[in-house]
Amino acid sequence: MFAKWEKLGETILMNSVLVTGGAGFIGSHLVGHLLETGWNVTTIDNFDPFYAREDKLLNLSGYRARRNLRVLELDVRNYPELIAHAAGRYDVIVHLAAKAGVRPSIADPGDYVETNVNGTQNMLSFARHCGAPQFVFASSSSVYGVNPRVPWSENDHVLMPISPYAATKVSGELLGHVYAQLFGIRFIALRFFTVYGPRQRPDLAIHRFARMMTQGLPIPVFGDGSTRRDYTYVEEVVQGIAAAMKYDRTLFEIINLGSHRTVALTELIETIEDALGVKAVLRHEPEQPGDVPQTYADVTKARALLGFEPRMPFPTGIENFARWLRERDSLMAKVA
Ligand SMILES: NC(=O)c1ccc[n+]([C@@H]2O[C@H](COP(=O)([O-])OP(=O)(O)OC[C@H]3O[C@@H](n4cnc5c(N)ncnc54)[C@H](O)[C@@H]3O)[C@@H](O)[C@H]2O)c1
Repeated sequence: MFAKWEKLGETILMNSVLVTGGAGFIGSHLVGHLLETGWNVTTIDNFDPFYAREDKLLNLSGYRARRNLRVLELDVRNYPELIAHAAGRYDVIVHLAAKAGVRPSIADPGDYVETNVNGTQNMLSFARHCGAPQFVFASSSSVYGVNPRVPWSENDHVLMPISPYAATKVSGELLGHVYAQLFGIRFIALRFFTVYGPRQRPDLAIHRFARMMTQGLPIPVFGDGSTRRDYTYVEEVVQGIAAAMKYDRTLFEIINLGSHRTVALTELIETIEDALGVKAVLRHEPEQPGDVPQTYADVTKARALLGFEPRMPFPTGIENFARWLRERDSLMAKVA
């Protein structure tokens, strides 16, 4: 299988990147940015049924006509298929494909290990097979677990994951360390802190709450509403990933990508209310297993190594999300 730009007989002077999970929330924003900045992009996605295929197709719809994009429907769990259909020359691999979400991982841990651990191992073997020199991995703030020392720093070696999902992300970082040490593949793990913005995954709180509010349904508030999250705007995460793709000073790094600002659950709900112009109905529920009381990123390292400067005001980011949600729903209504 040849990339479109090869089929069209164009010279291959542009840098090549393979993005796994490119039809997803973060992946599709990254694909858009990379196309704009002149990369040849191959993306692998199996359109996992965790949420609707239509949403993932919509995520990529604005880019499908681009000649420097190749979309392959492949599964990172299937190594022979990856080699058969996706092997090629890549300057960097960005591995975002995963089973995401903390709570569903408790119900189905085996599936999470299969995709997130074995899938990551396959992608590392694939990188070696293709001679790709650099690998950027989507890790997660969940690896810190219940670590009470905030803000969470990469130098803090106290990882206390409390969900299968979090444990799979720790495993991915460790596998990457092995490949950096044994085979000299530069491995950069980025620990994302709750990413939000247009196209956000429908299972994440902001998206779920917004839907429930517009339908007049009660919002489940777990615990007393004092849990705090460090929310990071998706375009800023994309800037961080793009910088990690070019980082070349050391062979292995773990870097937080957060906003270094926390928002309480109650404040989150009020901000969504303002953006949507509706009042939420609240339903109080006990704390959920696997949930942590707070997430809070120290971004000193991201600033120093990647020039990462998160600036998006939270209410503006939420307004952008709300606008996208309205547009998406009216588009889907027209198609239906
Ligand atoms: N969104 C967040 O707040 C957040 C926070 C921390 C870490 N992360 C990590 O960032 C990455 C992207 O997250 P997202 O929110 O964009 O999720 P997403 O579910 O929107 O995107 C993941 C994509 O991976 C694909 N995928 C799943 N299993 C696959 C498989 N076996 N083979 C090929 N493709 C497969 C899915 O179809 C999906 O399009 C994930 O690794 C996630 O764990 C996300």
